[in-house]
Amino acid sequence: MNQKAIERELARIPLSDIRFFESLDSTNDAATDWAMDGASDYSLVIANHQKKGRGRLGRSWITIPGASLVFSLILRLSSQEYQQVENVFSRFSGLGAVSVSQALRIHYQLPAMIKWPNDVLVNDKKISGVLAEVQWMGGHPTVVILGIGINIASKAVPPARDLQFPATCLEGETGASQNRLLVLRHVLVEVCHWRSLLMDEVFLRTWEAHLAYRGEWIRLTSQDGSSTGVVTEGRVMGLDSHGALKLVSQTGGVMVFHSGEIPDGKYSALDDGIYQPGSGIQLRPVDSLPK
Ligand code: BTN
Repeated sequence: MNQKAIERELARIPLSDIRFFESLDSTNDAATDWAMDGASDYSLVIANHQKKGRGRLGRSWITIPGASLVFSLILRLSSQEYQQVENVFSRFSGLGAVSVSQALRIHYQLPAMIKWPNDVLVNDKKISGVLAEVQWMGGHPTVVILGIGINIASKAVPPARDLQFPATCLEGETGASQNRLLVLRHVLVEVCHWRSLLMDEVFLRTWEAHLAYRGEWIRLTSQDGSSTGVVTEGRVMGLDSHGALKLVSQTGGVMVFHSGEIPDGKYSALDDGIYQPGSGIQLRPVDSLPK
């Protein structure tokens, strides 16, 4: 991977500028600095190696040179997006996941699903993670940094003991070696397409259609200010108009979550396969949850 090869592969994508690094701390950090220096909409930072790759919730993201695909796209908010952004910020967070899952479905025929909010799974294992961060200026959101990591070769998959959730890679799932730059191109085509539809119902419906565990019982952890957070159990219903997760409790009440994580996947996989709703897990009313 080098600057020339990347530019050649992405020649038809309407990017403003591309910066390739053999090694850096984090493409999201480099993109943040570049955006503050005035980078245009659709500027791309890509690296072969990240020394301090970051994941959601303060976790780290391991990047193996030659085996991982890691990049960050600078999305400068248009006036229309800017005016609507408070309602749609979570849609930007889904944008990366929808783009990766569509690219994997269309070009690699993989059954990609989205573990809300934005992990991409194939066959119940994580293949890609998305870190969307907003830059504010003068009290207003101005830029979204869309950071995406995809495990391409098996070396990119960390050892099981280091994982909170099982992981996989593109080559493992397709049984063939894959060109990282081609994967990048496919994902960027999807990002351009879905960004233009971000405010459209079809985007939300696609995100929802790719949602993992629909109709299944899951546990969701969400922060309530305590260090451990709150665990809620519920059946996955879908998404609301903001991209928030809707769960149904055992008593039929609908709960809406704007943030949180599904740490274990399908609940039936726990407790020796015997699921008993209401087994001592705290349920929280919707209006007490963080917005
Ligand atoms: C997660 O699953 O928690 C999100 C992982 C996001 C990783 C990507 S790799 C490219 C970009 N740069 C980073 O430091 N993080 C994101």
